[in-house]
Amino acid sequence: MPPAPPSKSEDTPVRVEVEDLEVSFGKTTVLHDISFQVDPGEIFVIMGPSGSGKSVLLRTLIGLLAPSKGSVTIDGQDARNPRTHEAVKSALVFQAGALFNSLSVYDNLAFYPREHRTAREAEIRKKVGETLRMLSLEDAADKFPSELSGGMRKRVAIARTLVMEPRLLLYDEPTSELDPVMAATISEIIGSLRAELQVTSVVVSHDRDLAQSIADRMILLEEGRIVAAGTPAEVLESSEASIQQFFHPDINVQQPRYRASLSKPPES
Ligand SMILES: Nc1ncnc2c1ncn2[C@@H]1O[C@H](COP(=O)(O)OP(=O)(O)OP(=O)(O)O)[C@@H](O)[C@H]1O
Ligand SMILES: [Mg+2]
Repeated sequence: MPPAPPSKSEDTPVRVEVEDLEVSFGKTTVLHDISFQVDPGEIFVIMGPSGSGKSVLLRTLIGLLAPSKGSVTIDGQDARNPRTHEAVKSALVFQAGALFNSLSVYDNLAFYPREHRTAREAEIRKKVGETLRMLSLEDAADKFPSELSGGMRKRVAIARTLVMEPRLLLYDEPTSELDPVMAATISEIIGSLRAELQVTSVVVSHDRDLAQSIADRMILLEEGRIVAAGTPAEVLESSEASIQQFFHPDINVQQPRYRASLSKPPES
């Protein structure tokens, strides 16, 4: 009997809905009143200063952290339920790569399909080869993570995720530590995946060029709250002073920021 054709739900991109989300660690609340939707097939960018809660938000979207209030759903299903993520094969590309150090680049990429028996070895070889070519990593197949540059490790982390054929892809700072051309290449890859793979993407990034060139919509977080939301043009060109300061900070050697923060009385 021929295999059944994939059901519609298996080849359509997914919707993410975040409603009144609050996330706390003990008594400290790090995300407050977060609500947004990511439409199927969209590229949604999350920006904000260091410590504003971007990685915590991504980890909540993928179900690694539980909301203390509110909800996150993926295609209407609770993000806390592992089955929700199995159904859409959601994948998170971590900020620091998180590769298996004892496996070669090739084996890092082949790990998921081998472990989950999603394909035969010949198909895996084809898929891994194609993915390595896509990310200009053909020559790195036999190397180990410790033998790679930071930028190469980042591309291997993305490649390993793509082999899983996810329908929801979450990236934590995919272009940090990359040279400008490689950062642009990664932006192009994220953008082209939407067209080729029917994928919904949520991208945490400090990279204005990335947001400007590939985001459909974006939010700006500050101290765990959304302070701006809209298209990249609306947010990046906002005339609001604090938003301008974030995207175009002054550099003033006479009055450095660190002195201002040192002269503040300690918070009680
Ligand atoms: N497991 C945890 N336990 C306690 N506090 C945490 C935990 N993870 C994150 N935090 C706190 O939550 C806040 C937001 O952290 P988060 O990692 O989301 O920042 P970020 O916006 O990703 O910053 P960066 O741009 O530096 O990566 C920080 O104050 C951090 O100390
Ligand atoms: Mg982070």
